[in-house]
Amino acid sequence: MEGNGLPKVFVAQPVPGEVEAYLKEHCDCRIWRGPGRLPLDTLFSEVGEMEGVMLSGFKVNGELLDRSPKLRVVSDVSVGYNNFDLELMRARGVAGTHTPGVLDDTVADLAMGLLLAAARRIPELDRYVKDGNWQRGDNEALFGKDVHHATLGILGMGRIGEALAKRARFGFDMEVLYHNRHRKPEAEMALGVRYAGFEELLSGSDYVVLLAPLTPATRGMMDEEAFRRMKPDAVFVNVSRGETVREEALVRALSEGWIRGAGLDVYEKEPVPRESPLLGMANCVTLPHIGSAVAQTRADMAMLAARSMVAVLEGRDPGTIVPE
Ligand code: DGY
Repeated sequence: MEGNGLPKVFVAQPVPGEVEAYLKEHCDCRIWRGPGRLPLDTLFSEVGEMEGVMLSGFKVNGELLDRSPKLRVVSDVSVGYNNFDLELMRARGVAGTHTPGVLDDTVADLAMGLLLAAARRIPELDRYVKDGNWQRGDNEALFGKDVHHATLGILGMGRIGEALAKRARFGFDMEVLYHNRHRKPEAEMALGVRYAGFEELLSGSDYVVLLAPLTPATRGMMDEEAFRRMKPDAVFVNVSRGETVREEALVRALSEGWIRGAGLDVYEKEPVPRESPLLGMANCVTLPHIGSAVAQTRADMAMLAARSMVAVLEGRDPGTIVPE
């Protein structure tokens, strides 16, 4: 601490007024207000004196940490924290926080939306109508796949997984299987979901939704073998991180009919390159990583990130330190 006695922090994105007010009360803060996304070299030049940084979508690695010797905490405005080099942060004594809990329902809504959109071909048939192709007697050419009473397999049963299971079980009367690092007996009791091995889940589900965080163990978990295990009429949805999927294998699965369709919010490379084969596929619904993109949810995430950063700087446990 120096100057006005408050810790210096840099906020790498615009934040709502109440978050800014909170930050100003507790920190000596500089905020990037745009226009557009903060350039990486501006981030690098801003962090030199900072004890705290609040950001989203930037890698927290040696390049950043070498430029910020006073840094004590990086607060990610995101629930996924795969952009953190945790080993290096630990070695440098820099805490990492994230925003669990405040976006679960918003992301679960989107997962359900992608599932429905792919099952009933909503974007494809929207385009069909708008292009003036609707004629009487189209019939079977427009058929989709039922969601109600089908079996949903959830890969990664954290809070978002439970929020999705609730929608599926109680809104759509679906059977729900889940696969997770640890079994969740409370969720099994409360939601009536059943634990399954990875392979059993893939071969037994009509819909597979990937929600597992990106870790060394989950990187590329949906590979050729995994897609080949799925039912030929199954739909795959990913709202986690693109690198959990071998995209080349997914392209083959979709184009060669190993599975029926997909709904994607995330990609190996983002923004997804215009030449990606996925963008030319009618059976693949593509969104621009908008899992939490609702104003209130983003405001809640920003406030939680701000409070977490301040807690660490004041020597308190924020309850949002990223898991090992
Ligand atoms: C997150 O917070 O990790 C989500 O990807 C936001 O959409």
